[in-house]
Amino acid sequence: MNYIGSKYSLIDFLKESINKTLMNHKETRMPENMVFADLFAGTGVVSGSFKTMGYSIIANDIQYYSYVLSKHMIENNGNLDKNRCLKLINILNELDGVEGFIYKNYSYGGTLGQDVRRMYFSDENAQQCDAIRLEIENWKNSKFINLNEYYFLLGSLINSIDKYANTALVYGAYLKKFKKKAIKKMCLESLPTMAGKVHCEVYNEDAMTLIDRIHGDIMYLDPPYNHRQYCSNYHLLETIAKYDNPIIHGKTGLRNCNEQKSIFCVKEKALPALEYLIKKAQFKYIFMSYNNEGIIDKNDIAKLMQQYGEYEVYEKGYTRFKADKDANRKHKADKTIEYLHCLIKNKGE
Ligand SMILES: C[S@@+](CC[C@H](N)C(=O)[O-])C[C@H]1O[C@@H](n2cnc3c(N)ncnc32)[C@H](O)[C@@H]1O
Repeated sequence: MNYIGSKYSLIDFLKESINKTLMNHKETRMPENMVFADLFAGTGVVSGSFKTMGYSIIANDIQYYSYVLSKHMIENNGNLDKNRCLKLINILNELDGVEGFIYKNYSYGGTLGQDVRRMYFSDENAQQCDAIRLEIENWKNSKFINLNEYYFLLGSLINSIDKYANTALVYGAYLKKFKKKAIKKMCLESLPTMAGKVHCEVYNEDAMTLIDRIHGDIMYLDPPYNHRQYCSNYHLLETIAKYDNPIIHGKTGLRNCNEQKSIFCVKEKALPALEYLIKKAQFKYIFMSYNNEGIIDKNDIAKLMQQYGEYEVYEKGYTRFKADKDANRKHKADKTIEYLHCLIKNKGE
């Protein structure tokens, strides 16, 4: 899934850097005996990949669609019947469309007669999305599927529908003409299941409150790095995941997401929030991804971490995620420097 700040293309860099730090500090425990917590899990790609290395995982994100993805990626440990999953996916792909919430509010046909004609999905794909979403919920309520299958199917829907959205990647706006991919008929595709055998937990909370109740060995932080709130940029994925018929407003049909606004998107609050997490953390190793365009200065992160223990930083240049048209972008550089800040926290802090 294309996601702002996704670490998909940086996984090797993260793994190598984290392993190097553990080796430099003579860590003797194997991953099977360690807990890795990913407090800003997003697509779940980082925790998913550390899960395959054998770590026990704690994954968390304030967005519900992310929770759904992680419930599948992290908690489903090869416990799904592959043939049955395939059959379920095939049944869902064959459903007739339904004129439900997504069609009525986010497609051109469905918004006929309304003040705003929205074009987030083709009429056909919006109806298909409604039909699939409703059937997944019916199956759960009638106990035709168990919760593992529920999150697998819902995660697969979120991941699939995103590919057919008529947007320039995020849902802050829709395109005024349908792009090629958006008019193709949606195909529901299975999310892969990641192998891993140890204990995993997934939360849907603000990291600032969850931090009090978790402990482990490695804490990985990948907070938003600028003012762009994920709740606004991915509001439609949130609504498809929750399917809670929210009151929506404005040209883009935004749901109210005041509760999900992140403190890490506010320049004056981001650094004190980071300090709070570090201070409270009951983890020996703390790693934080951030890039050179973030609202917290690299040197401020370094200064802060140095107060709590031993500090080092890794860096890598990479091609950045383009969320909007080149002309609208504030940062025109295609290359960005990605930092991995590391803190080996002193005991007793
Ligand atoms: C940079 S993205 C993480 C990307 C993720 N590492 C990946 O590779 O997919 C930041 C994530 O932090 C989440 N987030 C923002 N503020 C949060 C908070 N206070 N508590 C928990 N999650 C938060 C956002 O919803 C978003 O998914």
